Amino acid sequence: MNLLHIDSSILGDHSVSRKVSAAAVVAIVAANPGVKVTYRDLDAAPAPHQSGALLAARLLDPGARSADQARDITEADAVLDEFLAADIVVIGAPMYNFGIPSTLKSWIDHLAIAGKTFSYSEAGVQGLAGGKRLILASSRGGFYGADSPMAAVQHQESYLRDFFRFIGIPDVEVVSAEGVNYGPDHKQKALDGAVAEAANLGRALQAA
Ligand SMILES: Cc1cc2nc3c(=O)[nH]c(=O)nc-3n(C[C@H](O)[C@H](O)[C@H](O)COP(=O)(O)O)c2cc1C
Repeated sequence: MNLLHIDSSILGDHSVSRKVSAAAVVAIVAANPGVKVTYRDLDAAPAPHQSGALLAARLLDPGARSADQARDITEADAVLDEFLAADIVVIGAPMYNFGIPSTLKSWIDHLAIAGKTFSYSEAGVQGLAGGKRLILASSRGGFYGADSPMAAVQHQESYLRDFFRFIGIPDVEVVSAEGVNYGPDHKQKALDGAVAEAANLGRALQAA
């Protein structure tokens, strides 16, 4: 069984989402001792941007690619392969500027591949990446609940839920620390609550 652990916070040891995602991984590994963990820190090692240059490099004969082009294609393919191989995916997903970190978006851009994670037909869109357990460790400075006046600008959790539903994973589990910029006491309470919740995610999974 494979677990893919992604972090994307730029705040290093001060990050809330990193602590929450780590607590979830520790709990899942404890409940599934044989699980193989693959870790990607998108702040330390961002995936290459999806770009015209990357698309053009894919059209070249592999022997004609520059070292940089070959490296970027290898990295982009590894992102997709790791995701497809994972039974469980845990993503540290902070809210930055009402959305997600740009590094997390770059990573996602390598997952949205027709024929691999979704397909279109006359019957509509079909997600092809189902069967995974997907957990978001979310953190936000403010409050964006459904009753909040800020709900309409919450493009972080809603975007991630929509994306993973599109590729066939409708039941995303979210552990959330909200309002962490409302003061140190509130931050500690939100962090402790989310870490405790994440520590309860360790149910055993059946081997695929
Ligand atoms: C670059 C940046 C942008 C942010 N933008 C928002 C925002 O739009 N809304 C919000 O509520 N909090 C915002 N925050 C606060 C973060 O959501 C909060 O600090 C959260 O804990 C970030 O997760 P992390 O600690 O894992 O990095 C921002 C923080 C940073 C560093």
